[in-house]
Amino acid sequence: MKAVMVSAFGGPEVLAVVDLPDPHPAAGQVSITTEAIGVGGLDSLIRSGALANHGAAPGRILGSEVAGTVTEVGEGVDTAWAGRRVWALTGESGGYTEQAVVSAETLVPLPADLSAVDAVTLGSSAMVAHFALRHAHFARGESVLVRGAAGGIGVIAVQLAARAGAGAVAVTTSSAERGARLRKLGATHVLDRAGRGAQDAPAGYDVILDIVAGADLPSFFARLEPNGRMVAVGVMAGTPPADFGMEMVAAFRKSMSFATFSADTVPALEQRAATAELFTAASRGELVAVVHEELPLEQAVVAHQKMEAGEVFGRIVLTPSRR
Ligand SMILES: NC(=O)c1ccc[n+]([C@@H]2O[C@H](COP(=O)([O-])OP(=O)(O)OC[C@H]3O[C@@H](n4cnc5c(N)ncnc54)[C@H](OP(=O)(O)O)[C@@H]3O)[C@@H](O)[C@H]2O)c1
Repeated sequence: MKAVMVSAFGGPEVLAVVDLPDPHPAAGQVSITTEAIGVGGLDSLIRSGALANHGAAPGRILGSEVAGTVTEVGEGVDTAWAGRRVWALTGESGGYTEQAVVSAETLVPLPADLSAVDAVTLGSSAMVAHFALRHAHFARGESVLVRGAAGGIGVIAVQLAARAGAGAVAVTTSSAERGARLRKLGATHVLDRAGRGAQDAPAGYDVILDIVAGADLPSFFARLEPNGRMVAVGVMAGTPPADFGMEMVAAFRKSMSFATFSADTVPALEQRAATAELFTAASRGELVAVVHEELPLEQAVVAHQKMEAGEVFGRIVLTPSRR
């Protein structure tokens, strides 16, 4: 099988296409012939070495989610999975491959009318957006700001907030063209990356979903309404300033909350149930999978170059030639 490995931490060029023997599932695992492979901001961070202290290491197959058909089941796994079209998280074994070996615990069956490409585009991003909004205790009628809305997680967060009856759904993004696309997904106010540019935008927000972090995080935190909640789910612009905690405490009279959220803290069963529901919603046309582009697996380097260049709206999907 073809697979794409991180040969060393660095730029997109460190991604190497390699030939490996087809893997076989161990106990509790299944093997999937992949039809579509998700590419996300997390993959870039792992490739670059930014997450080196989170267990990511050179020499591993990159990627965290795939969709395709179960071709082999390991010991102890229900044989009814064989031949089924599924989506799965790949964990450490990686997803940029023609044949992925995954834990049977993460399998979610695909609705008949949901494509594998749409499944990996929604997949973990939709699940993270869903649980992050829940973590923020978002309620109907509240105002929401999605910071970093043009990415995989953001385009779904906007749709979920709008669908759940948010009073306003503001977004930050880097261009007016992206803003227009986000409006079609449910955004009501479009701000630039610094949070400027929409005179009619709410002065404060009940909920801020932050995918960006970085130096500007405190200035966005300051835009919370009293009792407002900011949930940080990503670090696209790096870590916040060292004195962010001091600023938060100094603003205590507004009873604002700052929380981080990682899907890793959600039990596997809940992740599967939520993902299955989100897939069903997409298959009914209630959620849109925003596919920026499909590229052959062998062009993973190009996919990462496009991410580095900030070209991607939604998600890029890799497709193996074996499918
Ligand atoms: N919490 C979890 O469980 C979980 C799970 C998976 C991933 N993640 C994290 O989520 C992040 C990736 O999310 P994603 O896949 O949605 O990312 P993404 O698709 O790469 O997009 C993020 C968006 O943020 C904006 N952005 C990028 N760099 C920026 C910067 N320096 N300043 C301001 N805006 C910037 C870009 O939009 P514009 O150009 O339009 O501004 C981009 O489209 C990573 O940090 C990853 O670690 C978290």
